[in-house]
Amino acid sequence: MIVDLLGDFKRDYWCGDLTENNIGDTVRLLGWVDTVRDHGGVIFINLRDREGIVQVVFDPSKTKHDVYEKAKKLKSEYVIGVLGIVSRRPAGTENPKMKTGNIEITGEDLLILNTSEVLPFQIEDNIKVSEEVRLKYRYLDLRRESMKKNIILRHEVYQAVREFLVGNGFLEIETPMLTKSTPEGARDFLVPSRLEKGKFYALPQSPQLFKQILMVAGLERYFQIVKCFRDEDLRADRQPEFTQIDYEMSFVSQEDVMTISEALIQHVFKKVLGIDVKTPFRRMTYDEAMNRYGTDKPDLRYGLELIDITDIASEVEFKVFNDVAKSGGLVKGINVKGGGKFSRKEIDDLTEYAKKFGAKGMAWIKLENGEINSPILKFFTEDQKQKLFERMDAKDGDLLVFIADKRDITHRVLGFLRKHLAEKLNLIEDGKWEFLWVVDFPLFEWDEEENRLVAIHHPFTSPKDEDIQRLDEALKDVNIALSFKSKAYDMVLNGEEIGGGSIRIHNPQIQQKIFKLLNISEEEAKEKFGFLIEALSYGAPPHGGLAFGLDRIIALMTGSESIRDVIAFPKTQKGICPLTGAPDFVSQKQLEELGIKVVKEED
Ligand code: AMO
Ligand code: AMP
Repeated sequence: MIVDLLGDFKRDYWCGDLTENNIGDTVRLLGWVDTVRDHGGVIFINLRDREGIVQVVFDPSKTKHDVYEKAKKLKSEYVIGVLGIVSRRPAGTENPKMKTGNIEITGEDLLILNTSEVLPFQIEDNIKVSEEVRLKYRYLDLRRESMKKNIILRHEVYQAVREFLVGNGFLEIETPMLTKSTPEGARDFLVPSRLEKGKFYALPQSPQLFKQILMVAGLERYFQIVKCFRDEDLRADRQPEFTQIDYEMSFVSQEDVMTISEALIQHVFKKVLGIDVKTPFRRMTYDEAMNRYGTDKPDLRYGLELIDITDIASEVEFKVFNDVAKSGGLVKGINVKGGGKFSRKEIDDLTEYAKKFGAKGMAWIKLENGEINSPILKFFTEDQKQKLFERMDAKDGDLLVFIADKRDITHRVLGFLRKHLAEKLNLIEDGKWEFLWVVDFPLFEWDEEENRLVAIHHPFTSPKDEDIQRLDEALKDVNIALSFKSKAYDMVLNGEEIGGGSIRIHNPQIQQKIFKLLNISEEEAKEKFGFLIEALSYGAPPHGGLAFGLDRIIALMTGSESIRDVIAFPKTQKGICPLTGAPDFVSQKQLEELGIKVVKEED
């Protein structure tokens, strides 16, 4: 079918913007055929453009014959232009579910600008189609209302962020994408250099080093909405390339950065969602978060707190508890209010769930209808039982679950169990926004595999003032280093880490000591970050900043399950783009130019 030309046909209105005030107007509209229905010869089209949908009617008794014949050819997703008169819908045919449901367009003329093949899936929400197919036909997927809304909301967030930061004296500055490795804890994506064969650029894991250098340059306040690249195992909340709202400020304290970050979030939520977010946000130390919730990003929309019973466990005859308590481990429990009604099968499923996160088992006590059921209570004396029930605040109808293990494992397992139980028991209220700052992170942790200290945030994060005095001691005793706290802070929303930052080290000698503690030799430090240390030695102001994970914030704001639903062209869990087929092989010629030889993996 040969299609019409657009010529000088121009749009007068967006479909969704037409109202009863337009009744009687002749209008020209452009868009896609959302649906076609034929009711006894009368053709009803839902015409869709970016801003909405309006009904167009071609009635054989009113429409010119050739136009009507053309309208009969229309199919889903044809691209058309319509000239018609805005009319009130006949009484009883209004559609209250549509914004334009009281009006319709009486079609007078029609341009068919393009046709469409039969679709691989319908352009509607709640479709049952694999993500692979959705991503392969992303241009169709993005025509769906829910996806389009996400992309538009994302655009609104960019604008609100810029408005706020520019209004607060931040300069928008771009930093390089072809650069050197930035240590944020992931693998680098590398880009081979043609001009310097054998050498590679790394795509930035974040603009961390450049933003610090911009502070040394005296620019005082920098921001950027910026792509970051991290080659790590992907999950629902992780993409290999993702976007940060990144900023850095000179002459600030931790408190200053936190205050401006809260105000930024407040501005964005008000502007985009019309929601009033109260500041200051709650604050919790890392230790408290771990002890009460088993995670450094607790979801505070529900209780189910962890209760330490290690002292009681050390007295009971139950070997599992006793051994763990005596060997410096941790025995903790959760009182699952309303869990008394769980069946044996449900409790076994919980145990299996706990095992997925490394638990060896899950002990439990069920209190239901005055009866107490438990595989472990036989090991408790009456006294010990009383003590335990009191500590756990046990009442009829409760289920008590316990994990005994090394500290980290007990916390990890109970942290995940807590989340799982909240979902199972429907404890999470819709429309709740629980913001939280987690502060006083340890500076280092011990990496068993590498057998050395590693930075929890990144190696440029400042220790707390009192710990800076003890750097030399720490060089001699790793336990002292492990006791250090940092000037790092994470913002958590509903159990997700949406941003993190720190006050940086601005003194080159301190930075070098930190590298030493991290077992990074002077040569390696010089080779990798020599430019930073050198920059710090030319009058670096005290500085600090933060980066938000933009995709995660938008996913939360839109109620999306995955950040993939708020990114126009995301990668699959395997890091593949089904639309373009990236990553892909390249020609032998390209490889030769780069001086690269691909080693084929043996089968
Ligand atoms: P950090 O590594 O904590 O800090 O990153 C900041 C925020 O970015 C988000 N994020 C991700 N989002 C999607 N996919 C990923 N793979 C991914 N990785 C991280 C998270 C996180 O909180 N340079 C420092 C910031 C600073 O110190 O100023 C940094 O990058 O929401
Ligand atoms: P057992 O004596 O091995 O049959 O275990 C008795 C109960 O303790 C079972 O419910 C196990 O799931 C549970 N259990 C086993 N190991 C642990 C552990 N490390 N922490 C908590 N409970 C456990």
